[in-house]
Amino acid sequence: MFNTKELQEEILRLKKEKDVCVLAHAYQTHDVLEVADFVGDSYGLSVQAKSVTQKTLLMCGVRFMAETAKILSPEKRVILSHSLAGCPMAEQLSVEELRELKRQNPDYAVVAYINTTAALKQECDVCVTSASALEIVRNMPQKNILFIPDCNLGAWIAEQVPEKNFKFINGGCPIHTRITKEDVLRARKDHPNALLLVHPECKKEVSVCADYLGSTTGIMAYVKKSDANEFIIGTDNSIVQHLQFEYPDKKFYALSKICVCHDMRLTTLIDVYHCLVGTGGEEIEISEHDRKEALRCIDAMIKYSNK
Ligand code: 13P
Ligand code: SF4
Repeated sequence: MFNTKELQEEILRLKKEKDVCVLAHAYQTHDVLEVADFVGDSYGLSVQAKSVTQKTLLMCGVRFMAETAKILSPEKRVILSHSLAGCPMAEQLSVEELRELKRQNPDYAVVAYINTTAALKQECDVCVTSASALEIVRNMPQKNILFIPDCNLGAWIAEQVPEKNFKFINGGCPIHTRITKEDVLRARKDHPNALLLVHPECKKEVSVCADYLGSTTGIMAYVKKSDANEFIIGTDNSIVQHLQFEYPDKKFYALSKICVCHDMRLTTLIDVYHCLVGTGGEEIEISEHDRKEALRCIDAMIKYSNK
C-alpha cells in the first residue's frame, strides 16, 4: 500500500525504468500534474508529442489528445490513461454528417477544433486549438470557413476575422456551456476586485464579460504576468486548484461550481501507476492509412500557426 507521495515516487521511478513520457492536460488533478513531464493545453500537448524522445507516451487527458499524439508519433506506443476518458464534444458530429455538410458547402474549407475524433480529422482541411485558432484562420488562404464543432469558439474567432465568411454547426462543450451570465453577475458581486478569465468554449453571454479570454494555458500565463491579486476562473475548476498551488498568496474563485469535466477527472494517480506497470490504460491503434489522412489537417495546423 502506498500513500500519495510514495505512489508519486514509484511513478517517477517507473517512468525512467520503462522510458515513458507522461503528458498531462492542464485539467488533470494536481497529483497527476506533479508526475508529468509536460503539462499543457491541447496545442502544447500536440507539439510536445512530436518532439519527445521516450519510446512510450502516456497521455493523461482524453481520447482525442492521445489520438493526436499517435497521429504525430506513429513510431511510439501511445497509451490513453483511462479508456473511458473521451470528450463529448469530439463526437457531436458523425463522419456521415460532416460529408453531407461538405456536399452542401463545396466552397468552404473545413476547420476542425482539435476536439474531434481521428475519423473526423480525416475529412477536414485544418485543425485548430483554442490557443492557435485565431492565427491559423487568419493565415490560411481560404476565405470561406465551415467551423466544426464548437460554435462558441468559432463565433469568437469569426468576430476577430471579419474579412472571412464563417458557417457553424450547433456544437459545443457541454461543460463550459453550463456557465451562465447569472454566474458572472454573482461572481462579480462576490469578488468585485477580481479579474474574470474565461475559456472561449463558454457561451457568448459569458465571454463578452471577460477581462481575458483564452486557452487553459493562456489563462495560466495571464495570471503569471498580472499584478492583480484576485481572479475568477471561467473554465474547468481544476485550473482554480493549480493556480492556488502556484500562487498561494493570490485568490482564485470558480466562476461556476459545476464547470467540472467528468472525462478529464476519470484519470487518477493510481491509473497512471497501472498504465506504467501494464495493467491499465488503453494503447491507441490507428491504421497507417487513417493516420496519414488525419495527419494532413494536423500538419496544416502546425504550418499555419506562428508559434
Ligand atoms: P485547451 O486547448 O484550452 O486545452 O482546451 C481543451 C479543452 O478540452 C477545453 O475544454
Ligand atoms: Fe471536452 Fe469540454 Fe471536457 Fe474539454 S472540458 S474535454 S471540451 S467536454
